[in-house]
Amino acid sequence: MPGLTIGDTIPNLALETTHGKIRIHEFVGDGYAIVFSHPGDFTPVCTTELGKMAAYAAEFEKRGVKLLGLSCDSVESHKEWIKDIEAYTPGCHVTYPIAADPKGEVIKELNMVDPDEKDSKGKALPSRALHIVGPDKRVKASFLYPASTGRNMDEVLRVVDSVQKAAKHKVATPANWKPGEPVVIGPSVTDEEAKKMFPNGWETADLPSKKGYLRFTNV
Ligand code: BEZ
Repeated sequence: MPGLTIGDTIPNLALETTHGKIRIHEFVGDGYAIVFSHPGDFTPVCTTELGKMAAYAAEFEKRGVKLLGLSCDSVESHKEWIKDIEAYTPGCHVTYPIAADPKGEVIKELNMVDPDEKDSKGKALPSRALHIVGPDKRVKASFLYPASTGRNMDEVLRVVDSVQKAAKHKVATPANWKPGEPVVIGPSVTDEEAKKMFPNGWETADLPSKKGYLRFTNV
């Protein structure tokens, strides 16, 4: 089994966090959530990542997205580590909860295990995994990065914008798309349907195949 992936319902796990006990589905509620793991507390790249996530928290909140961090360290360790995170990224406040997973069970359930990272006792450690979860509690997008690569929060935000745009307008976003740029009408939408859905029309790219499948519109 490949483990939790796009389209799956995220398990409604009960988690111990720096904000007390939560259950994932109740935490997601009627909005979106980003559940993201990091290899360990008091490690260099993770310290930069969690600070950047805190610095972007207001942008995520504007989009109705809650943040939930996770590593295999304890809640006490997370609370101590937050002091370092906030000191390293001045002005940031870690207002989102960070979940503990001392037995490494949650990272298995959420498909966040890094096959190459183990602690001194040989226990599995998390990769830099990230799931964007929708109001239906299904995974809309996932990132899976190795411990050696810190994530780009602009890209996380861009993917949230794409996922929400697609959900609202039944469109898709092309390569390197940014908010405000034209979007693509998906292949399952016929031209007849598109006329009703996109009254401002669309532009079709003139390609050698003349199949007319690359249609751009603004929504
Ligand atoms: C880091 O956060 O810098 C890190 C953590 C685990 C392995 C490698 C790097």
